[in-house]
Amino acid sequence: MRVLVTGGAGFIGSHIVTALREAGHEPVVLDALLPSAHPTAPAPGAAAPPAEFVHADVRDAWSVAAVLRGVDAVCHQAAMVGLGRDFADAPDYVSCNDLGTAVLLAAMAETGVRRLVLAGSMVVYGEGRYDCLRHGPVRPGARRPEDLAAGLFEPRCPDCGSALTPGLVGEDTPPDPRNVYASTKLTQEHLAAAWARSVDGTALSLRYHNVYGPGMPRDTPYAGVASFFRSALARSEAPRVFEDGGQRRDFVHVEDVAAANVLGLEAAPGLPPGTLTAYNTGSGDPHTVGEMATALARAHGGPAPVVTGEFRLGDVRHITADSTRLRHDLGWHPRITFTEGMTAFAHAAQRTSAGVN
Ligand SMILES: NC(=O)c1ccc[n+]([C@@H]2O[C@H](COP(=O)([O-])OP(=O)(O)OC[C@H]3O[C@@H](n4cnc5c(N)ncnc54)[C@H](O)[C@@H]3O)[C@@H](O)[C@H]2O)c1
Ligand SMILES: [Zn+2]
Repeated sequence: MRVLVTGGAGFIGSHIVTALREAGHEPVVLDALLPSAHPTAPAPGAAAPPAEFVHADVRDAWSVAAVLRGVDAVCHQAAMVGLGRDFADAPDYVSCNDLGTAVLLAAMAETGVRRLVLAGSMVVYGEGRYDCLRHGPVRPGARRPEDLAAGLFEPRCPDCGSALTPGLVGEDTPPDPRNVYASTKLTQEHLAAAWARSVDGTALSLRYHNVYGPGMPRDTPYAGVASFFRSALARSEAPRVFEDGGQRRDFVHVEDVAAANVLGLEAAPGLPPGTLTAYNTGSGDPHTVGEMATALARAHGGPAPVVTGEFRLGDVRHITADSTRLRHDLGWHPRITFTEGMTAFAHAAQRTSAGVN
């Protein structure tokens, strides 16, 4: 199968390219090498994995149409990621992620490519799933800045104010994006669903949880938390853990995520056409951010983490996945445990301007 991997020079995309080749497929990469992901723009090709490479933007309809010729399926990873610096980034996020997806889908409609695997995200769920002892499942609203500043990080029951127990989100949990990036990831799914309906195509959204592993970018305002901690340790500094470190996440290894993409691309012909199917993509083994920082610091032999009490308004407290559907429908099994993955990541290369180091 010839597969277009948009964003294939990025962290997850480059692992997908490797996994596709190992499975006997033929990946072709289209990537704009965005400065936010590749801080001091490497020479075109320098950051690209060993695959046919087109240096272009997904918003460039002409380039996208050209690269789609002869392609059987698209694996759409290209996006601006992370929380960004501040709200001024909003137009760039919407342009890259949503206009970019619309241009790609229009070109797929035109050229007759009918299979799409989208890099979805758990951020679409917002504050995840909680149960109140008295009220059952509840959906707490955004946390108040004054509560966060006072160190009250746990969301409370919107009805009675009591403490809540976090649970696992299933794919049918109503979306509730809490920041610009999250709303662009949800819009990508809505666009893909509209495309699938309109052309009778098959679309899967793999809603990745917190992906980590080798090749993660060094700390930029756009990177994930594991990357910040790893970068701090590389400078012999203590990882700085926000809030009280009790935020629960599902850290899933990038090689397991790449494998899910290959399975999704291969399985697409057997899935219902005309619709988008969402799949949570998490390890099923949640940990707190504090535990993750400690595991990395220990494995690296660096200073113990410092809990700072700082917070970011767009962050949610707990978000952990139920990935049963992905295991059941696609036969996916994450292979790398938290301990194995974090131990290796503590010493793994991170991506810099010059490629990886
Ligand atoms: N890393 C995570 O934990 C995580 C979690 C959930 C979802 N995702 C999704 O996974 C995908 C890949 O993320 P990543 O962590 O590998 O990020 P990344 O920044 O390392 O990779 C993204 C790549 O896309 C490219 N790109 C961005 N906009 C583009 C455009 N308009 N045209 C062409 N190329 C463009 C960038 O140059 C970069 O190489 C994204 O869609 C992201 O939303 C990532
Ligand atoms: Zn209650």
